[in-house]
This record gives sequence, C-alpha cells and structure tokens, in this order.
Amino acid sequence: MTSTIHLIAAARPNFMKIAPLFHALQRESWAEPVIVHTGQHYDLNMSDAFFRDLQLSEPGIHLGVGSGTHAEQTAKVMMAYEKVIVEKQPDMIIVVGDVNSTIACTMAAAKIWYTGLANRFNFNVERPVIAHLEAGLRSRDRSMPEEINRIATDVLADILWTPSSDGDENLLHEGIDREKIVFVGNIMIDSLEMMRKHIEKLDIYTKHKLKKGEYAIATLHRPSNVDNPELLAKLTDLLIRTSRKLPVVFPVHPRTRKNLEQNDLLKSLEQESGLILLEPQSYIKFMNFVFNSRFVITDSGGIQEETTYLGIPCLTLRPNTERPVTIHQGTNKLCDIDSVANDINDVISGKFKKGSIPEYWDGKTASRVVSSIKSILNIG
Ligand code: UD1
Repeated sequence: MTSTIHLIAAARPNFMKIAPLFHALQRESWAEPVIVHTGQHYDLNMSDAFFRDLQLSEPGIHLGVGSGTHAEQTAKVMMAYEKVIVEKQPDMIIVVGDVNSTIACTMAAAKIWYTGLANRFNFNVERPVIAHLEAGLRSRDRSMPEEINRIATDVLADILWTPSSDGDENLLHEGIDREKIVFVGNIMIDSLEMMRKHIEKLDIYTKHKLKKGEYAIATLHRPSNVDNPELLAKLTDLLIRTSRKLPVVFPVHPRTRKNLEQNDLLKSLEQESGLILLEPQSYIKFMNFVFNSRFVITDSGGIQEETTYLGIPCLTLRPNTERPVTIHQGTNKLCDIDSVANDINDVISGKFKKGSIPEYWDGKTASRVVSSIKSILNIG
C-alpha cells in the first residue's frame, strides 16, 4: 500500500520548498508524492522556470486559479482543491510557506472533516493529515497578508514542521500542542545545496560584465513597498543612487513592473547605466547572482535566509521580519528608506556584521521531514 501525499505549490517561493521534499519522497517505495499547482503564479519565469531548474516533473494536478483579490484567490483555490481532495482522497496534504494558497488548501482540507463532507462522499479516511512546512514564523504584523495566512494555517494543521527554534516558541506561546510541533530545519537550504553545483557553474553575472563581489542585487515586491506611489518613487531614487556607487542587478517582479510603469518610474531606472533591469530570474540564475554579489537589498522572506546561510550582507526594506534568526544570528538587517543609504555605505566600506548559520540549516531538512511523515503515517 502506498500513501498519497499532496505537495501544494502555488507561488514562486513555494517551488524551492517542495522540490527537495518531492525528490526525497520519490525515493521512498511507500510514498506517492503528487505536486498540486494551484496556479497562483502562472508566468513562465515565475513558475515554469522553477520547475525546470529544480528538476520537478509536471504538476500531477493543476488548479489554474490565477490572480485576484485576496478573498477571490483564496476562495477559488478552496473551491477547486475541495473537489480534488474528494476525488483523490490523499493520505496527507503538505502545505508550505505563507501564501494565499497555503491557507486555502489547509482550510479546504480541514473543513472536509468538520463539515461532515467525509461521510457524504464515502471517504475511507476521516480526513487527510495536514502538515505545514515552515510553520511558526511570525512577523507580528497583521497588515502583512502572509501573517494572517501563517496564523490561520498553524491553527488548523495537524503537524507543524518548524525551520528555527523561534518557530517552536511562537507556536507554544499561541497554545499549540507540543506533540504537533517538530523542529526540522530550513528546507530552502536543502534546495540551495541540491542545486549548488549548477548555481556555481553558471556564472551569469560575468555575462553582464560584473565582477565577483563588486555589485549588488535588489528585489522588491511587497505591496507595502511597491503599491505606495510615494514610497515607490523613493525606492526608485535609492536604486539609482546606489547604482552610481556600484552596479545593481534588479530583477523586476510583475507587480513591481506594473506599478513602476503606472507611476512613470520605469524609464528613469532604464536610463541608468549602472542598473541592470531584468525579468524575474529562474532559481539557478538568481542564486548565481546572489552567490557572487557584495550585498543584497530586498523585501523578500526567503532571501533573508539564503543570504544568512551564505554570509552575504542583506539589507531588508521592511519594519519587521518573521525570520528574526537572520537578524540575531545571521547577516540580515532591517532598514527603512531614510536610513538605508548609511547601511549601504557601511557594507561597501566593510563595516557590516558577520553572521553564523542557524541550527538545522544544513541541507538535511527533507530527510528529517520524511522521518516525521513515516512516524505520523505509521510506515514501518
Ligand atoms: C505572492 C505571495 C507572497 C510571495 C510572492 C512571491 C500572497 C499573499 N503573496 O505575492 O507572499 O512573497 O508571491 O512573488 O500569497 N502576476 C503576474 N504573473 C504571475 C503572478 C503574478 O503577472 O505569474 C502579477 C499579477 O498582476 C498579480 C500580481 O502579480 O495580480 C501579484 O501576484 P499575487 O500572486 O497576487 O501576489 P504576489 O505579489 O506575487
């Protein structure tokens, strides 16, 4: 008897989180891992390029949901995935990270049981086990849609796999049963180690005439930064001023590009010779730029972790982070638009802090997750 395990993938940062686990489960004779792509991200370079780089097979199930308001997107995923659960009856559903599809699939699965749908559809299991990979992270900022997704997912999931010990502490503090929590480490580091050979071989940065350690890379996509025209203008100015000190690679997220165009800011960026504007990059290309950069400016979650692991300074343009270990232990610093220029000068003049690597960020998280699944599903 094999156990069917759904791995929910929706948006760019999810693909790196499911890849090592999908490959690890494929090597297990008792497991039948199935990728469920909700379609939250659908562009070639936001989705397909990641499947290719991470050597993932085509999703077994595609919900094709697309963009929308938060409620629309969440509701469409719930409606589509409920049908899939009923039809396929998976033994376990693994959701990752904190995007809208994470909470949507968790809620659809949790309600199958609570609403009695299981009986109506002759389920032979009460309800699939729901497991959350990257559980327990908290920014304590509910204006961030991801924070709501994290809290609600962790309340409903049966198993909570945490990436760092602050995750365990947050969950215990919220009254979650200790037995549900398993500290497994950071799965993003597994992806990085899995692809390290390919990342190091590529040298895409030299194709852009950049020298190792002599350029920065910037990513910006959070609504709190790029949906505010005034702030977006200041960020544009920051990128321009920084690129006059050293070259800046800037892969532009679709949300950011749309807003730059609408606010007439794209042209001023395009005119700067030190700014290299690119389409969103695939995993291997992006990581090749990061590996060889002097520092990173970002508002992403995952990049704060990757830079800590690599010992590269990371200036995070956010007032808070759900990944505090990258600040206390790693190379990350939270910055605001008015002070970040000083931080950039510190990094360039070599005055930035050095960090260390958090516990269990070691490339072995997928195997710890597989052991946890075996004990949950009673696999000999
Ligand atoms: C989503 C996640 C965020 C994650 C980010 C990574 C939520 C609430 N947010 O934000 O946590 O950090 O992904 O990118 O789940 N678009 C395209 N092509 C695509 C995808 C999106 O053009 O393939 C455009 C659409 O205009 C869309 C907008 O980008 O409306 C935003 O996409 P959406 O998935 O809603 O959120 P992200 O900002 O990408």
